[in-house]
Amino acid sequence: MDFRGRDLISIADLSKGAIYEVLEKAREMIPIARGEELDERLKGRVLATLFFEPSTRTRLSFESATHRLGGRVLSFGAPEVTSITKGETLADTVRMVEAYSDIIVLRHPQEGAARLAAEFSRKPVINAGDGAGQHPTQTLLDLFTIWDDKGVVEGVKVVLLGDLKYGRTVHSLAYALALLGAELTFVAPPTLQMPREIVDLVMDLGAEPGQVEDPAKAVKDADVLYATRIQKERFPDPQEYLKVAGSYRVDLALLRDGKKDLAVMHPLPRVNEIAPEVDRTPHALYFKQAFNGVPVRMALLSLILEA
Ligand code: CP
Repeated sequence: MDFRGRDLISIADLSKGAIYEVLEKAREMIPIARGEELDERLKGRVLATLFFEPSTRTRLSFESATHRLGGRVLSFGAPEVTSITKGETLADTVRMVEAYSDIIVLRHPQEGAARLAAEFSRKPVINAGDGAGQHPTQTLLDLFTIWDDKGVVEGVKVVLLGDLKYGRTVHSLAYALALLGAELTFVAPPTLQMPREIVDLVMDLGAEPGQVEDPAKAVKDADVLYATRIQKERFPDPQEYLKVAGSYRVDLALLRDGKKDLAVMHPLPRVNEIAPEVDRTPHALYFKQAFNGVPVRMALLSLILEA
């Protein structure tokens, strides 16, 4: 696929072949991401980060990826210090920022904001998370982490655990895992189960996802346990959040019944979903997963921006 100049709004914008192209390129980027090799392929290029919601990993890994490839980064500190507070629209903000940069990375609380930004920008737009919608670069780094750890994605048994209703990362990831032939099980409290449209989407791709409430049942023959945070900020009613807060936790007792090489992943930030004691076990893949955001985003920027 020719990525040059393209937007990335949804993981569904990419075919299976295009996803593997990004993963292969990301593997080549690892020594540069670690600072072991120098590379200046983005010299003279400017990336703008527009984050209307908090972020640690996505924003900093995009910035690190750009710096590691010799490019520069523009960003506003917080939306409160921009002219948005004077009533400027997202469309006008994007029109301005495209004039100052070569590519825009946008995180926004409203689903559909990245698609709208892409309509108004002549420069490529990458969706860094839009409300409960999509987070395609997180999906790419999740796929890379599974592929790197297990050697394949096809046939890998993946359990998605937690807030499957509001967690945008699991929506994109379920779709992509089904596309790449992984086996899926969804584990969530009844009120936080995977939305019907995502279940239908993965079934259209040939997956037959299991749906259970008890994590212990699902973990037994899983290869990957992907836990997510309950997205407190997206609950319309705080009382509903309190009913499910703390309803699941990955700890040593849960992992005891799992495979020796069960990989525990999490997009982070975590709150209480993974006990700190898990960090010291070989199951813990989440910090490596977070690092993988750098080579994966380097791969993407390189494919989109290189002449
Ligand atoms: N995984 C993720 O999107 O983390 P941040 O919210 O810190 O960017």
